[in-house]
Amino acid sequence: MGVSGAAQVQLKLFPETKKRFLGKTSPAKSNLRDILVELLKRDLDFQGARTGYASHRLHPFAAKFPPQLPGLFIQALTDAGDVILDPMVGSGTTVVEALMLGRKGIGVDLDPLAVRLSSVKTSPLDEGRLRYLGRKLLFRARQLLEHVTLSDFDEKTRSFVEYWFPDGARKELAALARAIEEVEEPVERRFFELTFSATIIAKSGSVSLARDLSHSRPHRDLNKRTKSPLSQFGIRLEKNIRSLAELPADGKAWILTGDARALPLKNGSVDLIVTSPPYANAIDYMRAHKFSLVWFGHSVDDLSRIRATYIGSERTKDFVPAQMPESVEEVLAELQKLDRKKAKVLWKYFTEMEQVLREMLRVLSPGKPAVMVVGTSVMRGMDVHTHTGIAEIARSVGFDVVGIAQRSLDRDRRMMPTSFGKRNNSQIEQRTHRESVIGLMKPEEEVGSRFLLWQPAGR
Ligand SMILES: C[S@@+](CC[C@H](N)C(=O)[O-])C[C@H]1O[C@@H](n2cnc3c(N)ncnc32)[C@H](O)[C@@H]1O
Repeated sequence: MGVSGAAQVQLKLFPETKKRFLGKTSPAKSNLRDILVELLKRDLDFQGARTGYASHRLHPFAAKFPPQLPGLFIQALTDAGDVILDPMVGSGTTVVEALMLGRKGIGVDLDPLAVRLSSVKTSPLDEGRLRYLGRKLLFRARQLLEHVTLSDFDEKTRSFVEYWFPDGARKELAALARAIEEVEEPVERRFFELTFSATIIAKSGSVSLARDLSHSRPHRDLNKRTKSPLSQFGIRLEKNIRSLAELPADGKAWILTGDARALPLKNGSVDLIVTSPPYANAIDYMRAHKFSLVWFGHSVDDLSRIRATYIGSERTKDFVPAQMPESVEEVLAELQKLDRKKAKVLWKYFTEMEQVLREMLRVLSPGKPAVMVVGTSVMRGMDVHTHTGIAEIARSVGFDVVGIAQRSLDRDRRMMPTSFGKRNNSQIEQRTHRESVIGLMKPEEEVGSRFLLWQPAGR
C-alpha cells in the first residue's frame, strides 16, 4: 500500500490553481441531487482549458480525463476535508484535484504503473533535495555504465527488452535503473522511477524503437532516431521537480493497489466518487506500461498475469456471467449475431462493471453522489452503448440514476488510441469522439427502515 502526503514544502499556487483553491469551501450542500442535475447540464468539454498544471503533467497516460472534470464535481459536491474516491484511479487525476481543493483523496488501481504514478503525483517532496539527489543519481548512473548487464532479466523479458530498445539505450537504462535502486527513501525513489518511466513512455523524444507508446499502441520502427536515456532523464527531471512543487504541502492521499470489484474500504466511508472505467475492448494499458515496468523487476509473464485481471480484458476463461437488465441483454444478443467471442467479452465487461457499481454503492455514504465518465466502445462496427448499459446496471444495483451528459473529446489533446484520432465523419467515428458522464446518487437510508429498528421488541 502506498500512502502519500504531508511532507513539509512551501505551498505555491499558480494563478489558475489559486483561483480554484481559494474557493475550496463551497456553500452548504443542501441538496446534492439538484446540484448534480445542474452540473450535468453544464459544458463539460473543457476545450482549450490548461490541463498540464501541477503534478498532472508528470507522466503521459492514455485516456486520462481533463483535471477540470473531476475538479468541477469535487468543488461543487463536497466540502473541505471530505473524502473523494477514484476506484480506477489511472494516472491519479481525481486524487490530485481532491488535494488541490483541500479534500482527502483515495485512489485504487490494479495496474502497477498507475499506482506508482498516482502515488508520486500526490506526494509533495522538497524541490531542493530532489535536485541534489537527481544530480547525484545521474553521476552514479554514468559511473555504472561500464558495469551493468541485462543478466537480471529472465529469457523472455530480455528478448522483449532487446527487441524494443537499441543497444546503447539498454545500457543507459540499466545504469539509471540501478542508480535509482540505490536511492534510500522510498517516496523519493518512486519519484525517480516515475521520471525514468516518463523518459520511456513519452509523447516525443522517446528512447525505445516504439512509436505510439503514449497511446498504448506500440509498433516498432527500426528507422526511428532514438534519444539518449541519460540526457532525456535529465531534461524530464527538472520538469517533474517543478510540476511536483505546485502540489499543496498539506494534502492527504492514499493510493492503494487493489481491485475496484472488492474495495478495501469500509461501508459508507466516502463522500464522492469520480471515476472512469477502462473502455470495453479498446485500451490495453499493459502493452505500453511494460516498457517501463520491466526495468523495475517485473517480468513479462508477471505483467501478462496482472493484465488478464483488468476490467475489459479479453480473457473470458472461468467467467461466470451475471444476469443483465433487459436493454443490455438486447445489445449482447445483437452483438452475438456478429461475433460470439466479442459478445462474451462484452458480457464479461458488464458483469465486472456490475461488481464495481455494487462496491461503489457500498462504500458511499447514504445520500452522496458518484460520477462515472464512460467512453464509447465499438465492437465489430457496432456501438455497444456502454453508457446506457452501465446506467441501467447502476439502477439495477440500487443507484438513483440522476442523468447522463455528453462531452466531446478534444481530438488534438486527449491521448486516445490512434484509430480514435482519425478525422472521419462516419457516425461511429463521431460517437468515438464523445463520452458520457453518468451522474448517480446513493439513496438516503429509508426513514421507515430506521424506524423499524427503533421498535421496542415484542410490538
Ligand atoms: C480509463 S483509465 C482511468 C483514467 C483516469 N481517470 C485518469 O484520469 O488517469 C481506467 C483505469 O482502470 C484500471 N483498472 C482496470 N481494471 C481495474 C480493476 N479491476 N480495479 C481497479 N482498477 C482497474 C486500469 O488500470 C486503468 O488505470
